[in-house]
Amino acid sequence: MKTQVAIIGAGPSGLLLGQLLSRSGIANIVIEQRSADYVLGRIRAGVLEQTTVDLLQQAGVAGRMQQEGLPHDGVELCFGGQRHRLDLLGLTGKRVMVYGQTEVTRDLMDARSVSGEPTVYDADEVVVEGFDSPQPSVSYLQDGVRHRVEADFIAGCDGFHGVCRATVPPSAITLYEKIYPFGWLGVLADVPPVSHELIYVHHERGFALCSQRSKVRSRYYVQCSLDDQAEQWSDDAFWAELKNRLPPQTAAQLITGPSIEKSIAPLRSFVAEPLRFGRLFLVGDAGHIVPPTGAKGLNLAASDVAYLWQGLRSHYAGSDTEINHYSGRALARIWKTERFSWWMTSLMHNFPDSGHFGQKMQRAELDYLFSSAAAMTAMAENYVGLPLV
Ligand code: APR
Ligand code: PHB
Repeated sequence: MKTQVAIIGAGPSGLLLGQLLSRSGIANIVIEQRSADYVLGRIRAGVLEQTTVDLLQQAGVAGRMQQEGLPHDGVELCFGGQRHRLDLLGLTGKRVMVYGQTEVTRDLMDARSVSGEPTVYDADEVVVEGFDSPQPSVSYLQDGVRHRVEADFIAGCDGFHGVCRATVPPSAITLYEKIYPFGWLGVLADVPPVSHELIYVHHERGFALCSQRSKVRSRYYVQCSLDDQAEQWSDDAFWAELKNRLPPQTAAQLITGPSIEKSIAPLRSFVAEPLRFGRLFLVGDAGHIVPPTGAKGLNLAASDVAYLWQGLRSHYAGSDTEINHYSGRALARIWKTERFSWWMTSLMHNFPDSGHFGQKMQRAELDYLFSSAAAMTAMAENYVGLPLV
């Protein structure tokens, strides 16, 4: 078969790009190695920047989010046993939207089935070829038969472990990476959130985060060792550790219940440069990873998609100026967002090797942050999301 854009991966990047292209009259196919249910089973963050909300609106998939999403005007940081509020709306004029990535993905999948554009799930042994030539192609195995798709462009939306970045010759790509010496143990539970806003907690026992998916579903995290296994953590042990890291009054208000999901995620900062190789583009987690502190992963994926969508629309309208700027424009925003995610991770976690001086610096930075309108504004403008330029 022939199409205009072959999209590898049906995560939020691939599905959002597909939806925007379809609405612009650009033919595309999405090829995903897993099943739709598997993709929907992955629990990820749930804080959307206004620019992401706007893009979902442009994609025509914002209806349920507007009904069920929770707009948040502020966020809290807790340290030294005290909670401090960052007034996002007051400091920046912007809010964030709490709506889970799983729900964004479900809305995109529903829209795609309505649009009728082809989607292949359970595609095995996906191979991308010829992206340095005028006629790239993708092939995959399904039910033992190899299928081949010819396209004008390939969008590598296949996540950190995908095939697209791996196919680029090592001499053509530079990788930058930082691995953090701890993980996040996350629990999803059908209990009301402990507070109506998110609370990021700095504590000598380690970081914790009180987040939420709705008024009746909560998402909590505690910093854990990379050697830990999620199965070794009973629900009781998790709730006890979370309570230990919260101020006593907040711990007393915490409503606990059986976990419906429990998993450990490692923390990584990673960027690949450039993000374009001939007719292949890397988008979202295929090109970069941020640690989850600040919830920028999905938002960065969305800004990549916005830049590539603009580039492809202009290409088919006769101009290649925008598409030639895809890698540079996307990377400029990615690096600034990498900086923020790294900074917030460094500020809020316990680092095994930081020593007494490092701990004092961390505490001084937190004290400074809440004593300075300039520092709070800098944090707030990054938290609500940098502009798309
Ligand atoms: N062929 C086809 N599909 C593949 C292949 C392959 N070889 N390898 C991976 N995939 C699929 C994965 O199964 C997954 O569904 O690509 C998809 C990539 O989706 P994500 O990992 O969700 O990445 P992305 O769409 O860029 O979303 C970024 O998701 O990972 C979070 O923090 C991240 O929130 C951010 C967002
Ligand atoms: C989440 O709700 O899962 C979440 C929220 C904020 C973060 C990270 C994760 O910074």
